[in-house]
Amino acid sequence: MDKIVIHGGRRLKGEVRVSGAKNSALPLLFATLLAPGVHRIANVPDLRDITTVEKLLTTLGAEVVRENGTFTVDASAIESIEAPYDLVRTMRASVLVLGPLLARLGHARVSLPGGCAIGARPINLHLKGLEAMGAKITLDHGYVEAHAKRLHGARILFDMPTVGGTENLMMAAALAKGTTVLENAACEPEIIELGEALTKMGARIEGAGTDSITIEGVDELTPLEHAVMPDRIEAGTFMIASAITRGDVLVTGTVASHLEALIIKLREAGAEIIEEAGGLRVRGPRKINSVDIKTRPHPGFPTDMQAQFMALMALGTGTSMITENVFENRFMHVCELQRMGADISIEGHTATVKGVKGLLGAPVMATDLRASASLILAGLAADHTTEVSRIYHLDRGYERIEEKLKRLGADIERVPE
Ligand code: EPZ
Repeated sequence: MDKIVIHGGRRLKGEVRVSGAKNSALPLLFATLLAPGVHRIANVPDLRDITTVEKLLTTLGAEVVRENGTFTVDASAIESIEAPYDLVRTMRASVLVLGPLLARLGHARVSLPGGCAIGARPINLHLKGLEAMGAKITLDHGYVEAHAKRLHGARILFDMPTVGGTENLMMAAALAKGTTVLENAACEPEIIELGEALTKMGARIEGAGTDSITIEGVDELTPLEHAVMPDRIEAGTFMIASAITRGDVLVTGTVASHLEALIIKLREAGAEIIEEAGGLRVRGPRKINSVDIKTRPHPGFPTDMQAQFMALMALGTGTSMITENVFENRFMHVCELQRMGADISIEGHTATVKGVKGLLGAPVMATDLRASASLILAGLAADHTTEVSRIYHLDRGYERIEEKLKRLGADIERVPE
């Protein structure tokens, strides 16, 4: 297995382009299951999770061709309705096949994902919503079995905003009979993009991006032609890479409005952030102010940026309180940051980060996707050498991050372990 080796202390400078958004590409690729015919989705990042989707679509019977970031998916003949455990356990987002398969074929069998490093992450809200739309759901030897002759519209009030749940039900409702209203829906940019894509396919959707989404079901949908939006979390990670190294980096291909909460917090931390025609320029501060963050569903501070922001705060001039409200166990990176000299203590959902003068390079272990990014950021600012192992987590969500950082001047290498 590869590891990432970083010799820290270099200021990052230059320009970096963000790739297509992983968390948007996943539901868009699954949305192809809704309509027979040939779909084309461009700007798909080259990631391990995307390879898992490719395998899953192929297992279901779709023909997938992948060329230079463009996926051509022929979803005419869907022969299987089962998402097997082996694929679902490597990527929880596989549960997003449930809505499309059930809506198009009336039957789906999807392995229950099980636990996850960042929290329990149940899918009860997906299932409750589908039941409200008329699906019969049973649990069979670790698999969720769902049947429905044809789903019908329903008014669904989510107990809490769920990104995947909102996506699954939007896709299911697009082909249901009648009108579905999703209340307390997730508002993430990925939801807006899925709404736009489904609309291109002939769906009737209003309110995607607000907490109330109305979907009027149609009888059939047509193939999708679409280019995936830029990855806001990858963009945010590069912004922090610039901030933590006192760098001067232009992050291109970004959408500033997707990054509002992060931009506000980075400015409070002392970074200079300039909106330029090509993207966002981030100049790191001489001294990093310690600021507090609380993660929330969009438009709040994203949980997917919490670990990376904590690496920055580890070098703050005061004390920062970081509260994780979305997932119950998303502090696995703390122990690893402590090994690099960070002064962090956890009580319940809050980490108290007392800034230290410098971080010390060390061998560390990635525990999940964003934790890996956090350790790389810490390594960029630390003295001496940081070795990040178990980087298969990183490869799930960052496209060649070490090459991009290297082009910005980082001393970073991927080496076989
Ligand atoms: C999506 O996960 C993202 N994944 C996650 O990104 C992201 O952290 C998360 O949204 C929150 O923004 C993808 O888009 C593929 P949720 P998802 O359902 O949809 C609880 C990354 O690093 N919940 O919005 O699984 C759940 O446990 C990843 O790229 C239920 O209780 O997240 C959590 O506490 C990690 N029951 C909260 O809701 C349910 O049925 C929000 O989860 C569903 C969710």
